[in-house]
Amino acid sequence: MEAVPFDKRSGKIWINGQAVNWPDVKIHLLSHGLHYASCVFEGERVYDGQIFKLEEHTERLFHSASRMGFKIPYTQELLNKATKDIVAIQKIKNGYVRPIAWRGSEMMAISAQQTKINVAIAAWEWGPYYDINKGIRLNISKWKRPAPDTIPCDTKASGLYMICTLSKHEAESKGYTDSMMLDYQGNIAEATGANVFFKNKSGELHTPVPDCFLDGITRRCIIDIAKSKGIKIVERKIKPEEMSDFVGCFLTGTAAEVTPVSQIDKYKFSVCDVIKDLSKSYQALVRKKTAA
Ligand SMILES: Cc1ncc(COP(=O)(O)O)c(C=O)c1O
Repeated sequence: MEAVPFDKRSGKIWINGQAVNWPDVKIHLLSHGLHYASCVFEGERVYDGQIFKLEEHTERLFHSASRMGFKIPYTQELLNKATKDIVAIQKIKNGYVRPIAWRGSEMMAISAQQTKINVAIAAWEWGPYYDINKGIRLNISKWKRPAPDTIPCDTKASGLYMICTLSKHEAESKGYTDSMMLDYQGNIAEATGANVFFKNKSGELHTPVPDCFLDGITRRCIIDIAKSKGIKIVERKIKPEEMSDFVGCFLTGTAAEVTPVSQIDKYKFSVCDVIKDLSKSYQALVRKKTAA
């Protein structure tokens, strides 16, 4: 059965202070955010009716907006409450939340100083993004993560996702599930919507330094979980050819959770017990923390 398109779903979306009927939420064609990517967003997961790390995500939304040169016209507290309200109105048990902020239609040119900042929050039931029980296959993208002085790379700004969609589509057209993106210097960076970790033969976890891509909230959780288990974490620059030295690999992200990787290009990995155990601990954390 075909999924219902996102503009045809039912319920409410919070937009600019009000919960509006889902199909009636429209923006004008001449919105600055649409033409010039003056837009930032978040991706949050709901577990057992509670939003995991809501405050951290809202804080990052504000950080992204500030890096993009605009101010969200609400407090973080108000947006946190609005997010909880919309999850309750939508009766989401296990799902996804998409807060978004963008420049409006008051100006239609590069300069957008007088545009109004719009904010919306939508939520829907959603399951796993990948199969988290067996390893997924990735190619290596021909598109590179840009240098930190070319774009605000530590944000979830919409413009940054252009190369992610290009990479993901190319990977899918070749039969892969996702794509590993290198950075502008040729080091391993991240997948199209998730951070990456590798396990070496001594049981250490190696992960790229997030100096030109998102330092994911899930990435930081996994580092904490791994350290609490006595696993050594090494954050460093990793060259693609070094992947031959690693025995395991996994992705982390709000959507990806902890997803084992079985192959990146010609490099093969096994879904080792350490990865399965981290995945189990992450699943326990997201549900335990939110159950209170
Ligand atoms: C490009 C990219 N990298 C990494 C991540 C992982 O971030 P987080 O764990 O905060 O969801 C995401 C998801 O938000 C992403 O879109």
